[in-house]
Amino acid sequence: MMRVNHAGEVMAQALYTGQEMGTDDPELAKVLRKARAEEEDHLRWCEERLDELHGRPSLLGPLWYATAWGMGFLAARRGRGSNLGLVVAVENLVEEHLKEHLQNLPVSDERSRRILEQMEADERGHAEKAESLGAVDLPTPVRVAMQSLSRIVTRGALWV
Ligand SMILES: [Fe+2]
Ligand SMILES: [Fe+2]
Repeated sequence: MMRVNHAGEVMAQALYTGQEMGTDDPELAKVLRKARAEEEDHLRWCEERLDELHGRPSLLGPLWYATAWGMGFLAARRGRGSNLGLVVAVENLVEEHLKEHLQNLPVSDERSRRILEQMEADERGHAEKAESLGAVDLPTPVRVAMQSLSRIVTRGALWV
């Protein structure tokens, strides 16, 4: 589970970086940068926990990174509403995953639980902030594609 979360946080880095590079809006870039700083914390926590559990990150990290960067950049080029809409769509997906993981986590694993709970609170914050700034709903086919991608990443990260 922590390896999947780690892959997700690698993608979060890439998304926010692509989104920031793709926007011409300095105010929005600042918001994206702030969220990315929190995602950097998440990535570090996942990395440390993975290590403590003698796990290893997914070997497909560069692929996850490149895919997410491209998505972020494209959404940003489509304008502020889509850029923020991507934040909402992604963070909602991540929050769903984290909820599921929190349910499936062994009761004794307090440390992982604390990490996932803090991440979940932060991801919710990112989604709410984007909503308050004028996120628009992404088109249904895009959202469906994102759900498929999230399944691919979940399985791929477990596999390789
Ligand atoms: Fe995160
Ligand atoms: Fe987030």
